[in-house]
Amino acid sequence: MPRIAYVNGAYVDHRDAVVHVEDRGYQFADGVYEVIHLFRGRLIDEEPHLDRLDRSLRELDMDWPMGRSALQVVMREIVRRNRYATGLLYIQVTRGVAPRDHKFPSGVRSAIVMTVRPIPEFSEDMREHGVGVITIEDIRWARRDIKSISLLPNVLGKQAAAAAKAYEAWMYDDDGFITEGTSSNAWIITGEGMLVTRAASHDILRGITRQAILEMARELDIPFEEREFTREEAYGAREAFLSNSSHFVTPVIRIDERVIANGKPGSLSTALHGRYVEFMSDFPKIAGSR
Ligand code: PDD
Repeated sequence: MPRIAYVNGAYVDHRDAVVHVEDRGYQFADGVYEVIHLFRGRLIDEEPHLDRLDRSLRELDMDWPMGRSALQVVMREIVRRNRYATGLLYIQVTRGVAPRDHKFPSGVRSAIVMTVRPIPEFSEDMREHGVGVITIEDIRWARRDIKSISLLPNVLGKQAAAAAKAYEAWMYDDDGFITEGTSSNAWIITGEGMLVTRAASHDILRGITRQAILEMARELDIPFEEREFTREEAYGAREAFLSNSSHFVTPVIRIDERVIANGKPGSLSTALHGRYVEFMSDFPKIAGSR
């Protein structure tokens, strides 16, 4: 079965999906992206993801490559053509193709790439056993709320985690407070049962999964606080987890060399994951998808 990508107006075989050498994404990381979960033929939280794309584009004074509803037509078409029931839809928009010059080019259309990649429905291993994280200094720029494709510190952080046989790296700011993971938001549950994650600001990406979890907490009467927490507080937490569109709620059982609670995924993290799976099933199935 061919894998199909969408590149600047054309559906092409994934092997032939290429961008120009002077695409500003390639030369300057001058672009933004979104990752949307395709779950059993459903695009999860499509509208909030597109709202965030809109915000990222506006913050960088970049144009939409096409109208929002036209983009949604392409999203559906690429899901249909790839015939995966479950996967990740990747959308990248850059400022376009122009001779290399730092300042914005004029009269250039934004460039767009879309791909779909199949992934297993759930990673049972991660879910049942939880994952380990390391902590590292946050060396990123000051506008982490923009979902920019400039991800070098995130790449270095994830590699450092892999080298330490951990799944993710949680980054801490100059005052020792955790900001977020390299590709996820960071959460703890305190000894008093309080769900805690850092407040949305320029310091972190406002995760779409994060937002959904906060709404679930409200609905399930789980007390929560959006506030900073230190590594030390996290070491002593009752539970910890990370969230993103690829893996929803992933229990964290080790931070650096410290085992969290009894070293097993906590009951609240597990309950939130279960509720998230129900939540996903409520989205409409894309016509013609698997
Ligand atoms: N990353 N923080 C960072 C730095 C991220 O890169 C991500 C997502 C998140 C969680 O956001 P959301 O819940 O909207 O997925 C938080 C995606 C999945 C990625 O880069 O692959």
